[in-house]
Amino acid sequence: MGSGTFKVLTRNTALINARAGADIRIVQVGARRDNPAADTRGVAVTRDVFEVARNPEVDVLVELIGGTTTARELVLEAIRHGKHVVTANKALIAEHGNEIFATARASGVMVAFEGAVAGGIPIVKTLREGLGANHIEWLAGIINGTTNYILTAMAEEGKSFAEALAEARARGYAEADPTFDVEGIDAAHKLVILAALAFGVPLAFDRVYTEGIGRLSLEDVAYARELGFRIKHLAIARQGERGVELRVHPTLIPENCLIAEVDGVMNAVMVKGDAVGPTLFYGAGAGDEPTASAVVADIIDVARALNVPPEARVPYLAFAEEGVNGRPILSIEEVETAYYLRLEVVDKPGVLSQVASIMSDRGISIEAIIQKRPREGASHVPLILLTNQAREATLMGAVREIEALPAVVGEVARIRVETLDG
Ligand SMILES: NC(=O)c1ccc[n+]([C@@H]2O[C@H](COP(=O)([O-])OP(=O)(O)OC[C@H]3O[C@@H](n4cnc5c(N)ncnc54)[C@H](OP(=O)(O)O)[C@@H]3O)[C@@H](O)[C@H]2O)c1
Repeated sequence: MGSGTFKVLTRNTALINARAGADIRIVQVGARRDNPAADTRGVAVTRDVFEVARNPEVDVLVELIGGTTTARELVLEAIRHGKHVVTANKALIAEHGNEIFATARASGVMVAFEGAVAGGIPIVKTLREGLGANHIEWLAGIINGTTNYILTAMAEEGKSFAEALAEARARGYAEADPTFDVEGIDAAHKLVILAALAFGVPLAFDRVYTEGIGRLSLEDVAYARELGFRIKHLAIARQGERGVELRVHPTLIPENCLIAEVDGVMNAVMVKGDAVGPTLFYGAGAGDEPTASAVVADIIDVARALNVPPEARVPYLAFAEEGVNGRPILSIEEVETAYYLRLEVVDKPGVLSQVASIMSDRGISIEAIIQKRPREGASHVPLILLTNQAREATLMGAVREIEALPAVVGEVARIRVETLDG
């Protein structure tokens, strides 16, 4: 990221300065070693990044080293020295943002983080400025390119999760250790940032329900398609009467929904505002120059906003103790969604009615059913159900009861469904 930002800043200097209404100059670069991707001749380079944070010539520190340990210390040190900060570090903002913003507010400096969510898509600015008039009802995003690449390879090429992950690694779209991406942690980092901006809730990374894509089977991808859905790894934040939902999980979405067509490493975020209605933002979610586009936009903003009163320089997050008007962040058990369920059942009459009666006893209605013929030589058959909206705790109670039926084999596969139209 550092080299991409350096390149964009040096390539488009005149344009950037004109837009910022200021001369933006790279005073000093902090790097542990020379980077062949950036020609830093003519710029002071230090091997100690903390020197930049203390350099009296520097007005804005741009943190692009990643991680949450040194990066946190570096950013706080810069703030203490009166520097504004630009960062693309989602883990840092999601986990330490409350502390960083409070320190920045006390010091009257800005902290900008457009690059931290969805790379080049200006979604932070959209929420803070473009949609500033709206009561945001919900947002839903494909905000991790690695998982979207894997899901696309599963859906379009019939690759298994393991094969698709290996391909993502070979193409450089997945890290050697892909845990952060496939388990949904990276998406959860970004989601809390979006939710904080949209709803004014404090950054609450530990309150996000997070489910990865590792357990998704090709079978479910195919059945979802048969029912007119695509499976995407969605990050969802919703503000309702009962509270705020924060969740990242595989989700069935109708195939005619635009976001269902976002494939490969691309990112997209849908935002529903009460005045504007549904909106969709699409673009590259990662990469040196797309992210540099966001980082440099922040630098321009900081330069422009230096005349703004200090208290308006960091996002206003905590309206209440927790959530807007004190509304709580809901646990996943309290969330209501529709569900896709896949059961393996013994091929005998009566099973469907047993399952249906468990559902109706709990007030869960069934929207669609697919019952397959037995596979060659198999004694059990897949039974696929789409339910209407139900509370997770109620649904899970029904699932446990269904799993205990003698005619049901193994665990019930369960994927949440979102129509994204309300
Ligand atoms: N890559 C993307 O597409 C993307 C998109 C959005 C946001 N981001 C965010 O941008 C940040 C950087 O990501 P990246 O992909 O550019 O990571 P990266 O390729 O690992 O680059 C990090 C750079 O920082 C240097 N560094 C780390 N610790 C340092 C220290 N203590 N002192 C001096 N230099 C140090 C590393 O040097 P060494 O080579 O010596 O380790 C490396 O050159 C992360 O917070 C990431 O989440 C990245």
